[in-house]
This record gives sequence, structure tokens and C-alpha cells, in this order.
Amino acid sequence: MALYSDKVMDHFRNPRNVGVIEDADGVGEVGNAKCGDIMKIYLKIDNDTITDVKFETFGCGSAIASSSMATELIMGKPVSEALKLTNKAVTEALDGLPAHKLHCSVLAEEAIKAALKDYYDKNGIEYDHTQFPDCASCGHCDV
Ligand code: FES
Repeated sequence: MALYSDKVMDHFRNPRNVGVIEDADGVGEVGNAKCGDIMKIYLKIDNDTITDVKFETFGCGSAIASSSMATELIMGKPVSEALKLTNKAVTEALDGLPAHKLHCSVLAEEAIKAALKDYYDKNGIEYDHTQFPDCASCGHCDV
């Protein structure tokens, strides 16, 4: 069996929603200290719905495919639903990732959460802080 699914290869070769939103309502940037990959997500939010999402990823093919798939999964969704996006859902939508590449999908989940947190913070919206664990309580990237 090929290491990467057709979907991973498709999203790597033809990534969806690449770019920048200049007047974004929320921006999230995360990195993995171990592999050095960086992911940035831009969100446009109108009436509590994600009306546009773009990403910039400096990273491996799996990180690019994960970002691309994650943006497709949250496009048009309410903020509350986007918040529930897990790396598992991203991986499943990609028909799987090799075990040593699962952290690439974690980066996509974290970047979206960081952008949503930025949106909440910028707009003074109250939220449950446990939905956004800080770095100290995560440790997946072994900083
Ligand atoms: Fe680190 Fe892919 S190798 S995000």
C-alpha cells in the first residue's frame, strides 16, 4: 500500500484555500519545534459563521495536505462547530496519514483553534479557556 493516500497527494499537489486574508477576523499561527514546520490560518467570520478561510504553511507535504483539508472542513461552518474540529477528523478526511505524520494534522487543529481564539480575543467574546490549552499543558512538540 502506498504511504500516502490519493487524497493526501491530491491536497498536497492542489492545495485548497492557500493564501492570506488581509482583513482577517482571526489569525492563528502555530509551529512544531521538533520538525520546524509552521502553519498560519486566516479566518473571515460573519454572523458567527466562517465565510472565508485561507492558510499559509511552511512545512512538509502532510502539513500542507492537512491545512488544505482542515480549511475545507470548516468553510461555511459556525464558529462553535469549527472549534470541535479534531486532528482525527482531518486525518480521517484525508483517508489516513502515516503514524509519524499524525502530528502534521495536530498542527492544523491547533492553527484553527489559535485563529478562533484570536477572533474571540479581538472581539471581546467570552469563552471557555479550557478549549484552548496553552503550550505548557500540551508538550506534543517537546519544546
Ligand atoms: Fe512536522 Fe509535517 S513534519 S508538520
